[in-house]
Amino acid sequence: MDTGYSLMCTFLLLALLSYLLMRKHGRKPQGKAKLPPGSMGWPYIGETLHLYSQDPNVFFAAKQKRYGEVFKTHLLGCPCVMLASPEAARFVLVTQAHLFKPTYPRSKERMIGPWALFFHEGDYHMRLRRLVRSSLVPDALRGLVPDIDAIVISMLDSWDGHVVRTFEAMKKFSFDVGILVIFGGRLEERYKQELRRNYFIVDKGYNSFPTNIPGTLFHKAIQARRRLRKMLSEIMNERRKKAGVEKDLLGCLMDSSEHLSDDQISDNIIGVLFAAQDTTASVLTWILKYLHDNPELLEALKEEQMGIHETNGYGSQPLTWTQTRTMVLTHRVILESLRMASIISFTFREAVADVEYKGYLIPKGWKVMPLFRNIHHNPEFFQDPQKFDPSRFKTPPRPSTFLPFGNGVHACPGNELAKLEMFILIHRLVTKYRWEVVGSQSEIEYGPFPVPKHGLPVKLWRASITSSSSSSVGGTVEQCRPAP
Ligand code: HEM
Repeated sequence: MDTGYSLMCTFLLLALLSYLLMRKHGRKPQGKAKLPPGSMGWPYIGETLHLYSQDPNVFFAAKQKRYGEVFKTHLLGCPCVMLASPEAARFVLVTQAHLFKPTYPRSKERMIGPWALFFHEGDYHMRLRRLVRSSLVPDALRGLVPDIDAIVISMLDSWDGHVVRTFEAMKKFSFDVGILVIFGGRLEERYKQELRRNYFIVDKGYNSFPTNIPGTLFHKAIQARRRLRKMLSEIMNERRKKAGVEKDLLGCLMDSSEHLSDDQISDNIIGVLFAAQDTTASVLTWILKYLHDNPELLEALKEEQMGIHETNGYGSQPLTWTQTRTMVLTHRVILESLRMASIISFTFREAVADVEYKGYLIPKGWKVMPLFRNIHHNPEFFQDPQKFDPSRFKTPPRPSTFLPFGNGVHACPGNELAKLEMFILIHRLVTKYRWEVVGSQSEIEYGPFPVPKHGLPVKLWRASITSSSSSSVGGTVEQCRPAP
């Protein structure tokens, strides 16, 4: 076969593939509306390789620069419209949310469980959301402060004198807090350990290639998920035998008049653990990095926290919820970390009908991605956006420009809990310890959320607390090892 002939065959094959995909996903623009500008890349693979061959944030920022705030692309087999303006994000997530449904790959749905609230819309979603929220509102969290504080104190204590990978350690921390919120601190130790062991196997396989063949990470994760489900059934059955009413998340889901099935309850428990863990852990990791890189800010923060520490008799009295509400600078540091890191760079929805936005057509079946990070890093809304500057939050951001927890019906119900974890961690960290980042400080890795390279190894030591500006070193640093 000569080269010309095989080239022609390849061309015809690609053209046929494109045609079939256009039939499946595409629609001819109706009326005056036209598709947004942008490029769709190669048939089927689209611009996926382009996206994964570089920092995804650079990919999206370059596209926005070239095409504006609404542009099209083709990723992971799906045609997509990207939206990089606050108005467009609000259009999709709030005002016209009924025209866009949540969409996740099948493999993720299978791993978490199809009944988890974030896969749903309408009545089932609202009912579940109300139940989940009821255990995450400030009134429910207030009583958890001493328990979260105890977890933080013991975690930091175990780091003392060691080098620890921050992200790994923070994952364990946010998992333990998740277990506390779900089971109210009354879970037997054997269950805790088994849940942790199996959850981390699921976590490892979650982002692996979805081939369910023995030996693969995906297969191991599916098996571990089965064990998790079985364990949750046992825990629920034990609770039913006791016949009491608990106020933790499991209690809310079990005792509600909603009559949820065990599958529905389990999927939502696993879902909350997933939603809560890597997100919170990534932001906590960035907080340590930003504070480390901004010594003057760290001094000011120490001063704020030492004031509270002294009031509490240098730790002899417990930290309270009310005190966390007085941490003004700390709050700004948390908000600025959420903006700078923008660990959830974007979210996905799917158009359920042909939708017109500002003269552009978003065809039915296309994915729609509000780009949170692009909005958070737009100098029009956040001056000098690459600078870590908590003082920018002295004035509230313009409406719909600050979306670390999303917006609308699917906005994060765990935002108060996540911030509470950050307040408590920062309080204990800066009043008792000093830390240094070990090794490379500028590179980023994605797993899938962005975190500093190698999960930010830090060496941490107990400091003298006689002066808020003290940085005296105590203890010796051992070899780098995973977080205890
Ligand atoms: C810093 C930490 C966190 C960040 C940045 C974060 C961010 C988000 C975002 C952006 C969404 C909306 C996604 C979308 O619209 O597609 C979301 C949803 C959600 N988050 Fe969080 N989250 C965090 C922590 C938590 C915690 C601690 C919990 C629970 C304890 C939690 C539970 C959930 C749940 C259940 C949803 C789905 C809500 C729904 O579909 O109605 N998140 N989160």
